[in-house]
Order: sequence, then C-alpha cells, then structure tokens
Amino acid sequence: MDTSFSFPYLTFGQPGDLSAGDAALLEAAREATQLAYAPYSGFEVGAALLLDNGAIVKGGNQENASYPAGICAERAALATLSSLYAGMAIHTVAIAYRNKRQPERNELILSPCGICRQSLLEVAKRQDHPIRLIMSNPAGEGLIVDNIINMLPFAFSGDHLH
Ligand code: THU
Repeated sequence: MDTSFSFPYLTFGQPGDLSAGDAALLEAAREATQLAYAPYSGFEVGAALLLDNGAIVKGGNQENASYPAGICAERAALATLSSLYAGMAIHTVAIAYRNKRQPERNELILSPCGICRQSLLEVAKRQDHPIRLIMSNPAGEGLIVDNIINMLPFAFSGDHLH
C-alpha cells in the first residue's frame, strides 16, 4: 500500500511577516550566536527557547578539540532549561547562525541536526504539548514548523521501550 507524509510550514522573509513575539524570539536566537564557542567550524549557532511562562532561555554551540565532545546550540539551551527552569514547558524554539569563515554564505536556512530533533521531540512528548520551531538564515529568511514531530517522521521514542 502506498502512503505519504506531508506537513504544513510557513515561510518568512519580509519585514512584518513575523509576529512581534516571533521576531523578538528570533532576535534572541541571533544574540545567542554570541554564546557560541566554535573555533573549529567557525559556524556559530544560537538557539532561543520561549517558555510557556514567557521566559527565554538561550544557548550557543560549544565545540571541543575532541570533535564529538561538542554540543549543538539547541541541546546547550535544553541543558540550561533543565537546570534553571526544571519542568517548565517550551512553546517555541528559534535557531539562527553566523558563518564566520564564509559570511557571504547566508542563504541556507538552518535546520536542526538529527540528534537535536530527537532531543526536542523528547521534551515535546514529556511536556505533552507541541514545540514550534523557527529556522532562519542570516539574511532574515526562514521557515516555521508548528510541531517538531513533523521534523522527525517515524521517530524512535519512549513508546518503543514499553
Ligand atoms: N550545530 C548546531 O549547534 N546546531 C545545529 O542545528 C546544526 C549544527 C553546530 C554543531 C557544530 O558546532 C557546528 O554547528 C558545525 O556543525
């Protein structure tokens, strides 16, 4: 039997396309690129988590000379969330980047890596409500997905374990 998977998403790229709240969160993600420690890739990523209580938690990618020991901005922000706001739900995540080595390469919209999708999905399941995701490029364009679950079809989850 043939089946298919599709999901809706929004694109933005013009001033005024975003709500004031989303624009502020995206700005926080851009600011969070300054938290990055990315001497090896020069690819500085910022993530900003908007919580249900209105607080914003930021993270930047943290690289390591032993490359696999590094952590992405999204998971750095999630670690901060569980330390400072344990149990608080995430409403929306915004991500942004700056390519320090090739600043002219600013057209690609950042998309979270597979491990970060899995990590965000775990939080969404745990808090039992969807997480929105705003992805962007330095040129000010981007995509909005209303439910992180769409970013990882056929995801492995705790449902498989019991
Ligand atoms: N990176 C992130 O922090 N988030 C993403 O969504 C994609 C990749 C980081 C990991 C590494 O420090 C650098 O970007 C290059 O892969």
